Amino acid sequence: MKLTNEKVLICGGGGFIGGHLVRTLKEKGINVVRSVDVKPLDEWYQKQADVENLVLDLRDKESCVKAAEGIDVVFQLAADMGGMGFIENNKALCMLSVLTNTHMLMAARDAGVQRFFYSSSACVYNGDKQKSANVVPLKEEDAYPALPEDGYGWEKLFSERMCRHFEEDFGLVTRVARYHNVYGPFGTYDGGREKAPAAICRKVIEAKLTGKHEIEIWGDGHQTRSFMYIDDCTYGTQAILESEIHEPINLGSSEIVTINQLVDIAEEIGGVKLERRYKLDAPKGVNGRNSDNTLIQKYLGWEPSIKLRDGLAKTYAWIENEIKAKK
Ligand code: NAD
Ligand code: GDD
Repeated sequence: MKLTNEKVLICGGGGFIGGHLVRTLKEKGINVVRSVDVKPLDEWYQKQADVENLVLDLRDKESCVKAAEGIDVVFQLAADMGGMGFIENNKALCMLSVLTNTHMLMAARDAGVQRFFYSSSACVYNGDKQKSANVVPLKEEDAYPALPEDGYGWEKLFSERMCRHFEEDFGLVTRVARYHNVYGPFGTYDGGREKAPAAICRKVIEAKLTGKHEIEIWGDGHQTRSFMYIDDCTYGTQAILESEIHEPINLGSSEIVTINQLVDIAEEIGGVKLERRYKLDAPKGVNGRNSDNTLIQKYLGWEPSIKLRDGLAKTYAWIENEIKAKK
């Protein structure tokens, strides 16, 4: 399928990835008609004027029915989530997103929606495969036997599975991407839900502004991750929605770095060197995680390729502006 005149709904459109998705799809001339989020409108990261922006709690079935009315294509990104600091301390809240996923799937089926995209996560992968910082990149099959991230990861894995069975049993065409840590401007950089790239940029910027040249890093800094820039994420999301990929697929960068290297890059962008303090009892998550992109290459002949150094420079500049504007 190629998106042309279909009426598109984005759930979670007031959030980081949802906000970018609404904007980029609109810029391409795609018919995004509605964007829904539970946050008050003045808290949405981005808003497009020619879209119906609705504030609804999608955990409620009636809200989902309202959101799906007259819609052909759904991008379901709404979830109560955040970085390790949030998901490790809010497992029940993360799992309650199962209501949103369940009710949106039911509403989409009943509204005769043609295609349904679901944003899953690398947190579905078996923890035993992520014990070493020197991790073997995760292949899609590594999600089973199941041992996902407690709370958040279990919910994502369950909802992936629900998408599959809605397609098999009810004929609702579903597509599932497993996002690996996404970063970029117009995202959360403070308040407790922020992920490492934004958190580290914020800490470097604050150290420069206060003149207190030190930084707190969670864990020992040797843990590894790959980080995907938002432009790769929005491109890949559309491509997966339009594709004939019937199984959950990785959407992530394969450029692996240690958290110490992430800090090196942020310091280099900021032109500063900070004294590092390691908080070993902070939320840490898995020791190592990277995306194996063999499958996405096979299906799309493409994979996320924006360099961390380039994406982080844009993210850093945006966060710096935000912090200075607030002051
Ligand atoms: P985000 O928190 O910025 O966006 C999610 C949005 O969903 C928020 O604006 C939130 O208010 C909204 N929401 C939450 N509960 C809702 C409800 N009951 N009704 C309506 N809206 C509700 O997060 P994001 O980074 O943009 O993530 C988008 C999706 O991608 C989520 O499903 C997330 O789990 C998934 N994901 C993100 C990452 C990442 O690194 N950002 C990685 C893996 C998966
Ligand atoms: N958030 C954060 N803040 N993490 C830090 C910090 C900090 O100040 N300092 C070091 N870290 C370390 C964390 O301890 C963790 O080991 C690593 O950086 C990455 O943390 P996050 O970016 O918070 O999360 P994650 O990569 O473990 O998981 C994220 O990505 C998943 C997809 O790959 C989460 O956002 C999940 O919700 C998401 O699904």
